[in-house]
Amino acid sequence: MSSLIFFIKTVLISLVLIALMPVFAGGSQQVRKVPDEYRAKKNPFTGSDKSALERGEYIFSKKCARCHGKNGDGVGSILEGYSMPVFNKEYYSKREDGYIFWIVDQGLPGTPMRPFGPGSDYNLSETDIWKVIAYEREKFGK
Ligand code: HEC
Repeated sequence: MSSLIFFIKTVLISLVLIALMPVFAGGSQQVRKVPDEYRAKKNPFTGSDKSALERGEYIFSKKCARCHGKNGDGVGSILEGYSMPVFNKEYYSKREDGYIFWIVDQGLPGTPMRPFGPGSDYNLSETDIWKVIAYEREKFGK
């Protein structure tokens, strides 16, 4: 009898661990639920707008690279040991610009990702946020 209970416990614990695996493995890579008003937003700048990309590159290097790495893959981050998202082709293929705008504008509460939008400590304009997103998608998303 007690070995049956042990067996059942083992199976149950295994199931819980399997169910939690994606949470541990890909925690920072999950696609979050974006509020509707942000999802609808469109980037006014395209990857062929040279001056927008230059401005975006400047902002990324000044405000983002220290945590996200200069190649957007988290390599060289000051947040050593934190599982950083990897900005690559797969990342951008699954996320619209409105989603990324939302996170950069509002931050991710409870994580080191602060709000960067108008009125925040960093106070980036909406235009600058769009330019940094255009740059990231062009540079890391191809
Ligand atoms: C102080 C460090 C830090 C800085 C500076 C920073 N980030 Fe982040 N960012 C993070 C961390 C940590 C996460 C992951 C949070 C999590 O999911 O646990 C993150 C997450 C993100 C995400 C969401 C990734 C996802 O889950 O889809 C985006 C987009 C992002 N950052 C963009 C930026 C941009 C653009 C800048 C510059 C304007 C920037 N970040 C500056 C630390 C930083």
